[in-house]
Amino acid sequence: MKKHIALVPGDGIGPDIVREGVKILSAIAEKFSHDFTTSSYVAGGVALDSEGIPLPEATLDGCKQSDGVLLGAVGGPKWDTLPSHLRPEKALLGLRGGMGLFCNLRPAILYKQLSGACPLKREIIGDGLDIMVVRELTGGIYFGERGRSEDRAYDTMAYTVTEVERIVRKGFEIAQKRSKLLCSVDKANILNSSQLWREVVQRVQSEYPDVEVSHMYVDNAAMQLVRNPRQFDVIVTSNMFGDILSDEASQITGSIGMLPSASLAEDGFGMYEPIHGSAPDIAGKDLANPIATILSVAMMLRYSFSLFEEADAIENAVSSVLDEGYRTADIYTDGMKKVGTSEMGNLIAQAL
Ligand SMILES: NC(=O)c1ccc[n+]([C@@H]2O[C@H](COP(=O)([O-])OP(=O)(O)OC[C@H]3O[C@@H](n4cnc5c(N)ncnc54)[C@H](O)[C@@H]3O)[C@@H](O)[C@H]2O)c1
Repeated sequence: MKKHIALVPGDGIGPDIVREGVKILSAIAEKFSHDFTTSSYVAGGVALDSEGIPLPEATLDGCKQSDGVLLGAVGGPKWDTLPSHLRPEKALLGLRGGMGLFCNLRPAILYKQLSGACPLKREIIGDGLDIMVVRELTGGIYFGERGRSEDRAYDTMAYTVTEVERIVRKGFEIAQKRSKLLCSVDKANILNSSQLWREVVQRVQSEYPDVEVSHMYVDNAAMQLVRNPRQFDVIVTSNMFGDILSDEASQITGSIGMLPSASLAEDGFGMYEPIHGSAPDIAGKDLANPIATILSVAMMLRYSFSLFEEADAIENAVSSVLDEGYRTADIYTDGMKKVGTSEMGNLIAQAL
């Protein structure tokens, strides 16, 4: 298979970890005889430094013309005092909006090798966790009408049937490929937009008879995630609820350096990135954990290119390197073998 991938390393540890992602792409291309080519683009703080804006047109165009985007992270203290339209984070919103990426997939996986890093009790997590949060990304309260005067401010949560239907369908499709359990999270006891959300889920449900659906209010879902997270497989929810719940879910896995994410458009095109930020405190020091980025590459292969065997191979390689006791500093515990960013990438490539 021939694919062209746009690389957007960004700031801080972004270049350190994207480099390791590319190593894995090359290892997969060699092992499975694919032809993967890449082009690199600037976004975030580096783009502000070189071009005066967080998202140059050439970056968005290059990403749009690619078959998939691998992003590192953007931002850092150097740009924190800039006015909001010039903040590095604007690049993320521009990329998501510009490429129609309405569906955010955030898996929260607790590897059995790292179960000690989970803040929950052993009897709650059992032999591991694997939850997929499907979050709507381009609607809801972050994009609704807003305003403020001296003594009042408001934000509006609005959804159309079309917006709800397309994300809910993604939720059903993903549930079909997993254990066929879908939990739709809303606040339908209070919010009109949530009542509409629930009606759409109930209507669409008949088209996916193999998927078992439950509905949960968001306050209860936040509680259930720490009380009994193993009841969840796929959670589908709105932009703000998904933002909060996916962070909560990721924290119960104990390590921010391990979790990938995908942001998808309707046609399966996607941008893939680790969930963590640019970690300026460890940038360029060979300390960053590249596994979240490497697993983001696996998601790209699975969700955009339908290369399932290749995606499984990457995930198995990560698991086997963890089995052998190799750990970057963020997941290191006594008795394990400490390695840097680059060596972790090499070990996973070799395991492939
Ligand atoms: N998607 C993005 O690009 C994104 C997301 C979140 C934050 N940010 C930006 O990143 C900058 C730093 O933000 P922050 O400190 O709140 O969050 P962060 O995720 O960058 O770092 C939080 C902590 O986790 C550690 N960490 C993060 N990723 C790691 C990895 N792969 N391996 C080992 N340790 C890792 C860091 O060293 C730090 O101690 C800010 O400018 C913020 O706006 C960007």
